[in-house]
Amino acid sequence: MTEPIPRLRTEDRENWGSKLGVVLAVAGSAVGLGNFLRFPGQAVNNGAGAFMVPYIISFLLLGIPICWCEWTMGRLGGRRGMNSPPGVLSAVWNHPIARFIGALQLMLPVVIYMYYVFVESWCLYYSAQFFTGAFDDLFANATAADASHADVVTGVVGASGAFFADSCGLGQHGRVFTQSGLWMLCCVAISFGANFALIYRGVTRGIEAFCKVAMPLLILCALIILVRVLTLPNISAGLGFMWNPDWPRLADPSVWLAAAGQIFFSLSLGFGLILTYASYLRAHDDVVLSGLSASSANEFCEVVLAGLIVVPTAFLFLGPENAKGSTFGLGFITLPSIMHFMPGGRWFGGLWFGLLWLAALTSSLSMLQPAIAFLEQGFGLRRRASVAVLGLVTLAGALPIMYFTKDAVALDHADFWVSQLMIYIAATGQVLIFGWVLGTRNGIDEATRGAELALPPGFAFIIKYITPSFLIIVFVAWVYTHAPDYVRGMMPSIQGPKAARAVYEAAAYDKLGRQWLRIAPDADLPAQADLDTAAAETVTARLAELLGSSPHPATDQLPDWLLRVRQKAEESRTNAEEQASIARAVFVCLVLFLIVTVALSQLTYRRRMASIIAHHVSQEEHQP
Ligand code: ALA
Repeated sequence: MTEPIPRLRTEDRENWGSKLGVVLAVAGSAVGLGNFLRFPGQAVNNGAGAFMVPYIISFLLLGIPICWCEWTMGRLGGRRGMNSPPGVLSAVWNHPIARFIGALQLMLPVVIYMYYVFVESWCLYYSAQFFTGAFDDLFANATAADASHADVVTGVVGASGAFFADSCGLGQHGRVFTQSGLWMLCCVAISFGANFALIYRGVTRGIEAFCKVAMPLLILCALIILVRVLTLPNISAGLGFMWNPDWPRLADPSVWLAAAGQIFFSLSLGFGLILTYASYLRAHDDVVLSGLSASSANEFCEVVLAGLIVVPTAFLFLGPENAKGSTFGLGFITLPSIMHFMPGGRWFGGLWFGLLWLAALTSSLSMLQPAIAFLEQGFGLRRRASVAVLGLVTLAGALPIMYFTKDAVALDHADFWVSQLMIYIAATGQVLIFGWVLGTRNGIDEATRGAELALPPGFAFIIKYITPSFLIIVFVAWVYTHAPDYVRGMMPSIQGPKAARAVYEAAAYDKLGRQWLRIAPDADLPAQADLDTAAAETVTARLAELLGSSPHPATDQLPDWLLRVRQKAEESRTNAEEQASIARAVFVCLVLFLIVTVALSQLTYRRRMASIIAHHVSQEEHQP
């Protein structure tokens, strides 16, 4: 007797309404904070114009081939009744490994959403602060009327940094949940609500309808700001700073890693997002041209819009030292500062952060759809129930990330493990399934069904050999260069003494010389003039040994400054131990979440998905 086919409701059978709609939805998923905040910082810190060499190579060898592979497998899975990554990959290859890779791609966007939506809320908050004039007041109070330009820059950047630490909670855990964090919490609620309201409306009426408005709108906002920037006097100096190539940097492998990582994050590859979106295509909808169009739209926003706006203006108004920075530093400290110097900055600032919020929303939205599809198809839930379950799960993850904000420790560790490590495993697995299990011949036949454009001749070779090798090399290099620091970052027993030692070290540099020699006449240390690195280390070790050893020297034998150093070192030690414990908790939660997701993927496959796929495959076989 054959098993009954689980009933599919209308929401399980959604399709995109139009070709333009799907391209805008996928471009909306790709264009996000990665384009406008992450790219400028990566480029300017990694060789400026020279960064574009590894960037373009990564785009051609990783970006485009993986994107075609995701579009093709997604559409194939959709034809076999599946929309979530475990379902889609099982429809391509009925094997537990496929479900493991699918489970990773199910979990990744959900976890990324948990912190991405918080950063998205910062953008909304900043936009509102600009439009209401709060930044004008903040900067006016930070600068004296007769100050020199350099002092004004220092004052404005300092005020902007303090505002960022305070309003986003980077200076203190739980800051967002105090009375002064009320407006930030409102922005979080609005962002959360907007994401879930759109997801509730479904693929066509929610995601597609929204992206059709949001994408042109955000490009229009960016163009308005770009025109303003390009008409600023002397902007060519800023453009030169951003784009003049620093060729020797190409010899540094970390520049190549940064370029590959940027392509990955920016195009939303390996997250299961494109796989899910493509599953809502019709059997003969084009994947080759659509994939290329969505990726090109992403590159336009990243290289042309973001690349010409952020760093050149920062250079122009704040000087080179402020135009290089981390993603958050550039985005939430430098950019608001620029607006103080730019005519009409209040309105351009509001517009800029408003466009960032829209770009982030079209991306975060796409991070929810794989899990919604999984809950509906794997468990037979209705839309209302699946939205409620996912809402609770994402809230449960987002709340601790919003609470443990000091130095962005929870966010940073979650981001490292999911978006810089697990993504590579998921993407490599998916490319190997395409090239070696589905097979390049079948894969290309499937991709070109209904395509208006042929795949380039070298595609089979690239996707089978070059892309997986490139991914594996990048993955191993990332693990080698970054993972040890993150692993050590989870160990209180290492982080505590390291932080205390850094305080002693700073004190030794400060106070070294006669004073120190008076305190510890037996230390046998060089005078300040003779100090080299090795000597500084000896001094530091001696200082730490003296203060940290048991029995401690009697307190009354130590001068005040040394007592203060000791107190500061102890505070740093406690703080670092706490941060390491939080990092460890993040890691443990991620591992547990992964185990649960893998188990649910296997379970739902056996209970429902296998028979749905079998039913569609048999229908496919009986079609003329
Ligand atoms: N691709 C999305 C971004 O760039 C996640 O932000």
